[in-house]
Amino acid sequence: ILQWHHVCARDDIEEEDVIEFCHDDKLYAIYRTPTGFYASAGLCTHEAARLTEGLVFGDIIECPMHMGRFHIPTGAAKGAPVCVNLATHPVKVEDNKVFIGLP
Ligand code: FES
Repeated sequence: ILQWHHVCARDDIEEEDVIEFCHDDKLYAIYRTPTGFYASAGLCTHEAARLTEGLVFGDIIECPMHMGRFHIPTGAAKGAPVCVNLATHPVKVEDNKVFIGLP
């Protein structure tokens, strides 16, 4: 069963930006892209860099450490050196608030 956790206000994340959210000692990355809001694991699958320190352009997050890329909506690994997909999580926006759904 999913539990929805309040992350921030909708306008706390600018378009093509990402913020960090911590729950149960786990880091998550919450994105706003031109197509909407998304969430993924907060650490790169390559060497665990914090993705929130990376760069969002369009639907892509680029890791700050070795410039690996992921497709934000699906978590798909898009370029060397990353080859393992990111875990993604559902996001909803209600009353101008952003929520992440976690098990
Ligand atoms: Fe992200 Fe290496 S840690 S690409």
